Formats: sequence, C-alpha cells, structure tokens
Amino acid sequence: MTDLAFEDKDEGPDGPDSVPAAEPIAPGDVRPVPRISIQAFCEAPELAANIEAAAADRRMSRTHVKVHQGGIAAASEFYEAAATPNLIIVESALPRERLDPELDRLAEVCDAGTKVIVIGHVNDVELYRDLVRRGVSEYLVAPVAVLDLIRTIGDLYVDRSTAPIGRSIAFVGGKGGVGSSMIAHNVAWAIARNLENDVVIADLDLPFGTAGLDFNQDPTQGIADAVLAPERLDDVLLDRLLARCSDHLSLLAAPAMLDRTYDFDENAFVQVIDVAQNGVPAVVLDLPHEWTAWVRKTLMSADEVVLTVEPDLGNLRNAKNLVDLLRQARKNDAPPRLVINKVGVPKRPEIRVEDFAEALNLAPETVIPFEPQLFGTAANNGQMIAETDPKSAIVESFELIGRLVTGRGEIKRSKRGGLAPLLSRLRSRAG
Ligand SMILES: Nc1ncnc2c1ncn2[C@@H]1O[C@H](COP(=O)(O)OP(=O)(O)OP(=O)(O)O)[C@@H](O)[C@H]1O
Ligand SMILES: [Mg+2]
Repeated sequence: MTDLAFEDKDEGPDGPDSVPAAEPIAPGDVRPVPRISIQAFCEAPELAANIEAAAADRRMSRTHVKVHQGGIAAASEFYEAAATPNLIIVESALPRERLDPELDRLAEVCDAGTKVIVIGHVNDVELYRDLVRRGVSEYLVAPVAVLDLIRTIGDLYVDRSTAPIGRSIAFVGGKGGVGSSMIAHNVAWAIARNLENDVVIADLDLPFGTAGLDFNQDPTQGIADAVLAPERLDDVLLDRLLARCSDHLSLLAAPAMLDRTYDFDENAFVQVIDVAQNGVPAVVLDLPHEWTAWVRKTLMSADEVVLTVEPDLGNLRNAKNLVDLLRQARKNDAPPRLVINKVGVPKRPEIRVEDFAEALNLAPETVIPFEPQLFGTAANNGQMIAETDPKSAIVESFELIGRLVTGRGEIKRSKRGGLAPLLSRLRSRAG
C-alpha cells in the first residue's frame, strides 16, 4: 500500500485475539465525510447493500461512491487500467496467508495517497495488526453496520481534533405560525443556560424572522452578510456577525427588511452552517415554513430536526408528508422530534394528541398548551418564557427538547410538566 502508516492499536475489549470493537455510536455523533471518491469491491451482497446505504446517507452526500462486485482480485485487475480513488474498500473472506499476496497485487496498482479499508470475515487481531502494518488503513469484521462504516471512513479523512464540534438542529413548522421559531429560541436559550453549551441561532427567515425581536436585539449585521458573501465567510467574520444574547447564546439575526427579495439556491446556507458548526457545539436553524430547494436541503442535512405542529388537519397532513420524507431519506437518524403546540385553544375543535401521534406513527416529545397571555407577554418584552415565568411547566418542555437534540439523553419525566401529566390532563379534558 502507498499510505504506509504504522499505528500501534490497543487491544479490543474482547481480549487480545480479536479486532478492536467499534465504540457504540449515537447517530448525532457521526460527522459528515468530506468530498472524497470511494470505490468498493464486494463479495457478499450484504456489504454491497450496506455501502449503498451509507452512500445514500446525508453524511456522505459530498462523496462519490461506486460499488463493484468481485472483491480484492477484481479491484487489482480494475486498477491496472484505471486511476485509484481516494479510498478503496475491499471485501475478502480469504484466510491470512492467501490475503497477503492479493494485497500485494493491489498495492502495486494503487496510486500514492489512496487509502484502503479491508472488510474481512475473520476476527483475528494478528491479521488486523499485520494489515495495518502493511499500510491498510482499517480492517473491519463483517457484518459492518452502516453508521460504523461511515464513521470509519470519516475518521480516515477528518481529524477529530479539528472536526466540526457542533450539531445542527433544524426547527420547522407543520404550517406557518405554529410557534416553531418561538420553540427554537426557547430551546436554544435552555441549552445555553442549563447545559452551558455555546449555541448559535441562525434565523433563516431573512425577510420576516423574529429572533431579533424575541431576544430584544437589533444588530445591523447578521445572516444576510454571511450568505451573500460565502467566499469571505470564515470563523472570524462569523464572529463579527453574531449578536450576543446571553453568556452562551449568540444570534445570526435576519435583516427582516423587504428592500430586496431572496431566491437562494440549494446550497446557499451550507457554508454558513459549516462554519458555525466548526466553532459551536449547537447550531439552531430557525427555518421558515416554505418548501424550497434550500429548505429541503437544510432539513435533510441537519443532525436533528424538531417539527412543531398545531393539532389540526392541515398540520397533520403536512407533518405526515414531512415525517415520511425524512424517515425515508434519513434511515440512519432518529425521526424528527415532534412538538405539539398550542393545544387547548378555546372553542377550537382539535385532533387529539393520541390520534395525531398514531397517524404519524410518532409520539410527541412534548405537548405545549395554548397560553396566549404568557407567550404574548414574553414576545412583547423580548424575553424567553423562562424569564417571563420561570415556574411555568412549559419551561421544562424546552429543557427536555434541548437535552434530546444535544444528545444528553432522555431525562426522567419530572412530577411537574413533561408529557405524561399533560396527556392525562388532555384526556380528562376531552372526556
Ligand atoms: N403555546 C403557545 N401559546 C400561545 N401562543 C403561542 C404559543 N406558541 C407560540 N405562540 C405564538 O404564536 C405566534 C407564532 O409563533 P412563531 O413566530 O414562533 O411561529 P412560527 O411557526 O415560527 O411562524 P412562521 O411561520 O412565521 O415562521 C407568536 O406570536 C407566538 O408568541
Ligand atoms: Mg418562524
């Protein structure tokens, strides 16, 4: 192999004779893979299917992947006449002594800089060490799970110490005006205050965004300066464009002016989200309720999606479409986090929470009652709900979503607030 690098790997948890096992992974912790070309030569249809599935994952959207049949021998033959890509993945069920000459053949036709991952069927640490010594970048034992594969590839090309540290969390509504932005801002505020994590809110609703109003900020610069000059955008410029809202919370505010129109192309926000993710652990994306190429792309690429709805038929239909699409396109990710908001509007017929959840096959993470006095006061004062009424049970809903989307895990439902008591209250009201 050309990419000779001797690494002295630790022994796996299974003991000295087996290949080190991958650590368990949360989907939100697997980072995107950079723009590399990958060709795989598989023997078994299972591996080919898993590589295809990995290639379809959002984290691999920048890579070019080609899957061939035929294993290591086919690879050597193929590259006699063709240039090698950045990464070759070869599957081989051969025992060690027969694998060695095959790898030598492959090494002869590999261009400098090409890395090789071998996927084998023998869990043997001697073989693993031998392969690594010979310059193979990784040896994985089949079957290899899709996320493991993506992480392994990513680790070869992304330096963990400089890799993006942040999660992107997209907030979207099932209809306009359902409270998606309000929830995005309050969740961001909860993450910043309770988890003491730095958070950036990007208000992606350029003409009408309300994040500036909600945080009582009126900066002269913000998201527009970032997206309209992507070639100039780096962490220094981004830092200048941020308006500080609290200790850990900053805002990329929308201009909220109608002096021009915005027709963004699909990738308009990729750069600004990347730069923000490089520097901040949580990037909250407050999306407008519209269906454009860039909105779809941003939703599809986010680490987490929070979908806010009101309990009516239009929201149900739209939420179903969104949830189905996201489930289909993001098979290796959690489904969107569902928030049912403004429940209990007086005199309004509503779809019951249970029926809503059943129709979507998705349980809401939290249900937030209609509280116009509280929300109205907070909005008018440029405050968060926790500032207007720290004792409100709704504050816990925001904290819960904050923990879920930052991967801090499920918290125990507390006595006050949480889904269970609300559900039972709703049930008794309905009955
Ligand atoms: N649970 C609630 N009870 C009462 N009012 C609420 C509640 N949640 C949100 N609101 C109010 O609903 C209005 C719309 O909220 P918000 O702007 O967050 O919605 P949105 O889904 O982001 O709308 P848009 O489609 O304009 O982006 C605001 O005035 C907000 O204060
Ligand atoms: Mg909004």
